[in-house]
Amino acid sequence: MNLTGNASVTAWEKIAETSGLGEKDRLSVLIDDTPALLIRYESAYYAIEDVCTHDGQPLTDGEIREGAITCPRHGARFDVKTGAALCMPATEAIRVFEVDVRDDGIYARAGEAVSNAPAAAEGTHRAPADQAGSSTTKPLQASPASSNPFLEAPSEGAMLDALKQVLDPEMFVNIVDLGLVYDISKQENDVVVTMTLTSPACPAGPQIVSEARSALEKMPGVHHAEIKLTMSPPWTPDMMTEDARDQLGIF
Ligand code: FES
Repeated sequence: MNLTGNASVTAWEKIAETSGLGEKDRLSVLIDDTPALLIRYESAYYAIEDVCTHDGQPLTDGEIREGAITCPRHGARFDVKTGAALCMPATEAIRVFEVDVRDDGIYARAGEAVSNAPAAAEGTHRAPADQAGSSTTKPLQASPASSNPFLEAPSEGAMLDALKQVLDPEMFVNIVDLGLVYDISKQENDVVVTMTLTSPACPAGPQIVSEARSALEKMPGVHHAEIKLTMSPPWTPDMMTEDARDQLGIF
């Protein structure tokens, strides 16, 4: 695997012997001074940072099943190969590390390249893939957008229009008209959106958050967008706009 030119890639460090796991499917290790979990799954080795991106809980004792580890605290699940968040309440991927197996030694290093290839035998290794707040505000509604020719942060109206590109994949209505967006704040060119989901267990949560962030970060003048999820107040159908009601046939 060619990681040449990636300044973030660290040197390989030996983290365990293959015999070190014994019958266990995991081992707590340090990689680049970071607490990590070495996982054996289907005869391959993976390494993930040992912290849940939802609220910092160690994943050490999480159940591993069907290629995913479950956070013992609130139940978020992460793909052990890619680190991807698979269900709420986590929306951010956990960090994964490259793993290589040589001469019964297991080596790992930090990096930013992405690959899902497992470290199953000598000379093979994989590379890494790569929250919730609170609010009592009411959902925001879009107002006429304004352009930003000078690369200042866009207006709230323009950002709401951008967020209208993001559909709830279960309702097929955009997240603004559904009333999911509670607040937008900005500091210079960084934007923070506080929003909710139609239900705490919404399986589309990570997808919606990712698309909302992407829609904003494509806008001229937005350097970084953070999406904070809140369940307070919980979403109710009366938060929808008339447009959303029309689309859903609710009168
Ligand atoms: S801390 Fe892991 S799901 Fe909440």
